[in-house]
Formats: sequence, C-alpha cells, structure tokens
Amino acid sequence: MNGRDLVRAVRAVGLVGAVQGLRAVRSSWRRRRADAVGLRPRGPERARVPGPVTGAEPAPGGGVVQFTRSGLRITVTVTGAVFWGWDGADPEPSYALAGSCPQPDPRAVLEPDKDGGWRVVSERVTVVVSRHGAVSVCTPGGVVLRRDLPPRWWEPADGGEARWVQRSEVAADARFFGLGGRASGPRLRDGTYRLWNTDPGGSFGPGDDPLYLTMPVQMVVADAGTHLVFHDNSWDGTVTLSEGEEGAGSGHDRAGTCEVRMEGGPLRCWVMVGAPSRVLRAWASLTGAPALPPAWALGYQHSRWGFGGEQAVRRIVEGYRERGLPLDVVHLDIEHLDAFQVFTVDRETYPGLPRLAEELRADGVRLVSIVDPAIKAEAGNAVYDAGASMDAFVKDAAGRAVRGVVWPGESVYPDFTDRAVRKWWGGLYEERLAQGFSGFWHDMNEPVSFAAFGDPTLPRSARHSLEGRGGDHREAHNVYGLCMARAGYEGLRELRPQERPFLFSRSGWAGMQRYGGTWSGDVASGWPGLHASLSLVLGLGLCGVPYSGPDVGGFDGEPSPELYLRWFQLGAYLPLFRTHAALRAGRREPWEFGDEVLGHARVALVERRRLLPYFVTLAHLARRTGAPYVRPAWWGAPEDRALRDCEDAFLLGDSLLVAPVLEPGADRRAVRLPRGRWYDTASGQAHEGPGQVLVDAPLSRVPVFARAGAVIPVRGEDGELCLEVWAPAQGRTGGGVVVPDVGDGWEAPDVQRYTSRWSGGSVVVERQDEGGPAEPAYPVRVRGL
Ligand code: GLC
Repeated sequence: MNGRDLVRAVRAVGLVGAVQGLRAVRSSWRRRRADAVGLRPRGPERARVPGPVTGAEPAPGGGVVQFTRSGLRITVTVTGAVFWGWDGADPEPSYALAGSCPQPDPRAVLEPDKDGGWRVVSERVTVVVSRHGAVSVCTPGGVVLRRDLPPRWWEPADGGEARWVQRSEVAADARFFGLGGRASGPRLRDGTYRLWNTDPGGSFGPGDDPLYLTMPVQMVVADAGTHLVFHDNSWDGTVTLSEGEEGAGSGHDRAGTCEVRMEGGPLRCWVMVGAPSRVLRAWASLTGAPALPPAWALGYQHSRWGFGGEQAVRRIVEGYRERGLPLDVVHLDIEHLDAFQVFTVDRETYPGLPRLAEELRADGVRLVSIVDPAIKAEAGNAVYDAGASMDAFVKDAAGRAVRGVVWPGESVYPDFTDRAVRKWWGGLYEERLAQGFSGFWHDMNEPVSFAAFGDPTLPRSARHSLEGRGGDHREAHNVYGLCMARAGYEGLRELRPQERPFLFSRSGWAGMQRYGGTWSGDVASGWPGLHASLSLVLGLGLCGVPYSGPDVGGFDGEPSPELYLRWFQLGAYLPLFRTHAALRAGRREPWEFGDEVLGHARVALVERRRLLPYFVTLAHLARRTGAPYVRPAWWGAPEDRALRDCEDAFLLGDSLLVAPVLEPGADRRAVRLPRGRWYDTASGQAHEGPGQVLVDAPLSRVPVFARAGAVIPVRGEDGELCLEVWAPAQGRTGGGVVVPDVGDGWEAPDVQRYTSRWSGGSVVVERQDEGGPAEPAYPVRVRGL
C-alpha cells in the first residue's frame, strides 16, 4: 500500500462507514489475488517496428502497404474520414462505430510516392506513407496536419497481448482538446492523460486525472487546419501531449507532439480533417447521431443525495412553485432505494412513489431515477436471482461471479458486453417506469468497486463476453458504461416506443452520444470546480457528446452565495442544467442563499425558460450535424489564435456567446469576441470583433452577446414561440435555423431556415422555403436597432 492508497483507504472509510470500509479492504485484497492468479505476468518482450517497405496492394478507398514486419491498411471513406490500421487491424469490430463502417471512397487512389513510399490521394485529404511507416495526413494542398511516426510494439515472447506506442507530430502552433471529460482543460496542457475511466473518490478538481469518462479522441486545432484523431482501442493507456513552439520566424519551429501508449489492443486510427463543424459531422456519421432528449430534459433540474423522503420532495417542489421559480425535473438518488438495491423502492420513506410522480407530473415536474449497475449479491434479491439464473454477471478467471463493494455492500456486476445481458437489463426499466420515473441517471458505471488500495474497479483479469469474442476487463473496462447506456436506451425504446429515452451516464466512451449524455460527476465545490465544469462540457462536446452539465454549486461542501450564483448562471446556458449535492453537503435550493441570490437565480431560470426553443433547436442540430450546443469560442474561426486560447467563454449554438464569471469578486470582465458584430444582450450595445472588450458582469447576470443578424427562437411571454432577431450590421445579412418541436416523440420536425437583412431603413426577416422567401411563421422582435 503506498501513500495514495492510504489516503484512498481513509477516504473510503470516511465515505462509506466502517463496515463498508472493511469490505473495501477485503475486496481490494480479493482483486489483487484475482489478478495474481488470473493474469499472466509479463515475461520477456521483443520490440518490433514495421521495418522497410516491401510493396503495396490497392483496395477500395486506398490499399495495404506492406513492410517487412507489418502491414498498414489505409482507407479513405466517402465521408472524408481516413482509417488506418496496422498488423491487419480492421475498423470492425468496434464499440465506437454506430453500425456498419462508412463505404470506401471509390475515387481515392493509392500511388507510389518519392523515396519508395506510397500515398493515397482523395478529394479532401492526402495520406502519405514513408518507406519506414510514418503516416502523414495532409490537406489537399499538401500541408501536413499530422505526422504519425512508425509505431513500436513490445510482444511477449510467449504470445499474448502486445503493448504499443506511437508518437506523432503536429504543427508548432497546434492546440489539443478533448480526450473525453478532463477537468484541467478545455485546452489540454502539456502532460500525460490516462485512458482509464476512474472514479476519483470523494470530489475532484482541475488537478485530478483521469476522471469517469475518458476517450482516445483528440481535436487538434492549428493554423493549417483542424483535425480529429481517434485511436479506436479501449485498453488502458496514456496520451502524452506537448505543445510546440514557434521559432519567431527563425525557421526553427519545435513541433507539437503526442504520444499514445496502449497496454494492448489494436493499433488503428481514424482521422477527420476540415472545419470543426465538418469534422464533428464526420465524427457523428462514424459514431452515431446524438440521442435527442425530450424537451423537458432541457429545462431546469433539481437533485440531491438524501432528500429524506416523499414529503421532503413535495416541500422542495412547493418551494420552487411558491417563489415563482421554474422547475422541470427532480432526481431521486440512491436513498430512495431499498437498502441501495437497484430497481427497488424504500417503502418507508417513499410509500407512494407512483402517486408522487403523478402529482408532480400534473405540475409539470418529471422524476428521474438513479440507476447503478452493481447488484447486491444476496439470494432473495429479485434482480440478483434473475441475473444469476441467466449467468449475467462478470466472472473471474475460474468462472465465479466477481464480487465488488458498492453502496448495497457485496455486489456483482452485469456483463453489459453481452447482448443477452443488455436485453435483460433493458427490460428491468419497466419497474422504474411503473414507479413513475421519466428519465434515468446512470452512475458508478466506470464500474466502481470501493477500494482501500489500488484501482477502485473490477480485477483486470475479470472475464467479459465482448459480444462473444471473449476477453477480460483490460479491454472491457472503458466500454462498460457505454454498453450499460446502450442496454438502458434500447430497453426504453422497447418499453416506451413512442417516447424519447432520457438517459445520462457518468461513465462512457466514444459513441455514447447515441444513447444519451453525461454530467460532471462529483465536482468539488469551489471556484476551481466551477472552472472544471466548463472545461468538461466543452471537451466532451468536441468528442461528440453534446449533452452534459455540472452539479451546479458543486457536489460537496457549501458554496458561498456568490459561487453558487455564478455556477447557477453558468448552468443556465449548458444543456444539462441541474443542481446536485452530496449527502452531507449544504443545501442547493436557490432560496437558501439569501434574497439577493434568489432574485438573480430567478432571472437565470426565467432566461433559461425563455431560451428553451433555442435549446431544443440546438438539440435537433446536434442530432443532425454532430455540432455540440456548447462550442469553444474558436469554433467558427479556428485560425484565430487568441480565440484558441480563450477558455472562459463559449458559443451557445451559432448565435450566442456566453461569458460566465468564473472568478470571485468580479463585476466586470474581459471577453474575446470572434470576428463580426456582437451585441451585449443586456445593454444592446454593439461591439466589433475580432478583439477584446471589457463589459459589466454584475452579480445579477453574466455577459451574453448575440451575433449580429442572428434569428433566435425564444418563448414569448404567452408561452408561444417567437423569433428574436438581432439587426445585421449595415450591408450584411444574417440568419438562423428554427426547429419547432412538440417536445417528445419521433415525428420528424420541420427545419425552418430564416434570413435577416436590411431593406430600406428596416430589418427584413424571411423564412426560406423551397418555394422561395416567405413570411416568418412566428412573431418577430428585432433588437439592436
Ligand atoms: C456518486 C455520484 C453522485 C451521487 C452519489 C450517490 O458519487 O457521482 O452524483 O449522488 O454517487 O449516489
């Protein structure tokens, strides 16, 4: 046991109590023993590199380049995405891919290159392979965006899984983003980032890494272009990033570098190049369109661990109602379960849950239930008995169900990498629906097993089905949450075919957007935690997961009124807007922080409700195009270096720029504007970008700017949809998309495009129909005149 383990052990006892603490100690020993028996120790290894090129064989979209000790397959697909795989690695099977792999681009051709190398030339990208196996991805103009050096493998002499490393170079001015949910971003600084979904235990801040949701997905932004790179491999690994340095015109630039090291699994990669919007479109077409949330999931949500029972929930809902504060959703955490057992209810504190759900529903408030994967290992527990009878649990190398420790005590874990288990689990949501729940909050699915020392998860030797291929936890760990989300989503689609499932999950992996969103997890209450909240949402959006948000106010402790308010104001502009707090944390109702905070929180809530049609439109656009609701300031102008370094403001869709206050004591702040005219929505004052402006940021609000020309769907005072239009600059035009949505269901909505322009002395707003310009379908209010 080392120092970190000791801290973890003490934390574990503090967090879960003495009995659970002892179980955690036992379980950690058990895990260690299981791996000692179940995993072969790594013996002597042989290093290997591809060696010199020997030839190439064309194939649709590219071909296979042969080296003396490996082969490299390259395929350019019709979406412009490039796949390459060494050692015979194919794109499939893959947990990230949405279905079948995109078709090869028939126009891409494999040609010999200079010095004995090869290249694949296509319309959007050229891939150059050197004779020793370096792979460069270039723009059609020949500018290198990324150069992957020849990989190196270490193969155990007695067979078994090869480790590998690959170093890559990017432009000296490039900036890195993504890698899933990282607290220290959004711009990823030099350092090593682990790819292993991890519950940090307790709460986390910007220094904690890895967290619950890691992904080998990077967005790299440089003057020469933007690209997304995905190493499709779910094993444990690290990514070491180092930004480059420019030699100030001396011609001696130092390239940025990225080194990916994996403990096993295939060496295969996808690269997408182009403008950020195009890159994410290609990513969504590869890994799946983001699930469309029902409109109510874009409203305001209140959660806490430990409400205390039905009456307490009623009091809180009433508290919102009597103060005129909009509330759309209440979340019930583990204390509403019978002894923390999943798919049960504690009848003492929640004797009439369906009735409560019905009452709340009548007031426009939905209930969301927490769902943890671990099942109390006790005969008589119906879920355990059913799972045991169908052999649904993750097993050890000797074939016994692996036991871990979570809230209910000794627990077993469904193997979500098995299709039959997913099907069974998906059916269990019927019990939740019967209790009146409308949405689901997947937690502890890294998966967690409380540990006194070592990794707080299952033994690495634990066996998984992996869709019948068979394998162990080293490969299955990172996709466990993803497969659980799939089980829940598919189950709900069957149980309630006419409704959109609402599901968000703490852990996940590339492609999880197909099933739902995520949230920050247990972000520490404090200003650094507020910063981390924005970093997570931005980074995840760039990895294709558009729906997320933090625990407003922070998970633990007691935020100061100012911090709570600033968090609340940030949350009001993020897709998942939810207050949540730990069992022993302070309260999070807006009225608990004094009248001033209450008044300002009300303004934020009312504004969120007013913007609901815009959020709904952004949800549809995310589904159709992969573009996240929340985008970095550089989204439309990745060549603007100052914007690339801007980490304290974000674009909400195309039309709004939000500049939250992330520091204490501020009443003004600097905001870096992208090019074009931007209106301060509070004062109506116009500012010209690109450049930096200093604006008021009183406690009552955070600065929000509207792009000149924007057409934004909002909810009018009577609840009807109307269009808020910001005057274009003279001689310019603008526009926006509006997707009116009934709120739920699958009927394809009408996607309306609007334009705005000056004509004579006034602003004209038109709907662009197939038949030409038409009158807007909704009342219009022009601002910024
Ligand atoms: C985990 C979750 C947190 C939840 C708690 C109890 O810490 O991240 O949101 O409240 O478990 O279920």
